[in-house]
Amino acid sequence: MKTSESTANIISQDQIYYLNTFGARTPVVLTKGKGCQVTDLDGKTYLDLVAGIAVNVLGHGNDHLVTTIAKQAGQLIHCSNLYYNVPQTELAKRLTQWADMEKIFFCNSGAEANEAAIKLVRGYFNRSGSERYRFYSALNSFHGRTLATITATGQPKYNKPFAPLPEGFDYLPFNDIEALKTVVEKSDTAGIILELVQGESGIHPVSQAYATQAEKLCRDNGVMLIVDEIQTGMGRTGSFTACQTYGIRPDIITMAKGLAGGLPIGAVLAQGDVTTGFTPGSHGTTFGGNPLACAGSMAVLDEFERLDLISAVRQQGTYFLNVLQDVQATFSDRIADVRGKGLMLAIDFYKNEAPAMRDNLLAAGVLVNATGPNTLRLLPPLIITTAEIDQFRNILTDVLA
Ligand SMILES: Cc1ncc(COP(=O)(O)O)c(C=O)c1O
Repeated sequence: MKTSESTANIISQDQIYYLNTFGARTPVVLTKGKGCQVTDLDGKTYLDLVAGIAVNVLGHGNDHLVTTIAKQAGQLIHCSNLYYNVPQTELAKRLTQWADMEKIFFCNSGAEANEAAIKLVRGYFNRSGSERYRFYSALNSFHGRTLATITATGQPKYNKPFAPLPEGFDYLPFNDIEALKTVVEKSDTAGIILELVQGESGIHPVSQAYATQAEKLCRDNGVMLIVDEIQTGMGRTGSFTACQTYGIRPDIITMAKGLAGGLPIGAVLAQGDVTTGFTPGSHGTTFGGNPLACAGSMAVLDEFERLDLISAVRQQGTYFLNVLQDVQATFSDRIADVRGKGLMLAIDFYKNEAPAMRDNLLAAGVLVNATGPNTLRLLPPLIITTAEIDQFRNILTDVLA
């Protein structure tokens, strides 16, 4: 894509100063947004079907979120966890109720939430003198970028370069109940870490039977089930948590991404015996649960109620999937599969054309994400309208043609 001088300048400065973690990013510099639209430095507007990777659940520039953040910033941005603060306590109560859990801990990101969940389980078993310490996660899973969470991530490309890795992590074939059965029966198994819908690897839901069995097998064998809802939480699959979509209640749920509509926040929600895994001083954070992020998250939950967003996700998720199925029927020689759970959607191509499609859609004014050579992932803001989904249908059809 052709870039203007000011865009080219930002990109070249980034290449000089930023550590080379992101390689060549999509060559646009985003400056502002409203609803499901974002605008770049050159004034070009895009339909945003990435939403900051499932973060901007209310889209951009939501009035209630913006005024709440501004008001809270004027009152108290940060005070540390040496003291109590009102938004943190209010959010703790509201989120544990919404997610049907008992206790919560706030941090700043998804990786930190999973790291804390791993510590909570180890803390619980170590304190009770148990020999359980091993975790099992799925192949092709993604759980974050800290040392423990890259190790829990079942993709060698993320963890191999950083060996030696922490001990006690192993992998299971995705969605394989028999494989799960063998490991939960081992006396040293502490926890199963599971995405109910694998997001980073291209929107792959576990079967209902697998989710039900994971809960039952863990409970029957004294193993802790950690459900990683960093991406699936906050209404994305059509219930507040994907656990509710699947009708299961694990020991731990981790959330982040959309929790505060764009402010950095993560959470570990727990219920039952495992909640005793932390004792005073055994875990902590400077920024986690600060009043600004928590007030932002409260505003997001207010908007969920006002807009009845969970019902909207179910409705628009079904509509969006139907649209993708129509497009697939028209281009059945190119599109191998379309799938979705709520507003987590994917398009698989037969050939390695996903990156080129992403670039062509960008040129046509739509942001989508390619999770691999064959797969496009769509994670729109939860406020997306039928007209915007139709707009995408038309652009996608033109681009494919
Ligand atoms: C399922 C899942 N877990 C954990 C993470 C890590 O979250 P963060 O990037 O906020 O650390 C991600 C991020 O994409 C995710 O999708």
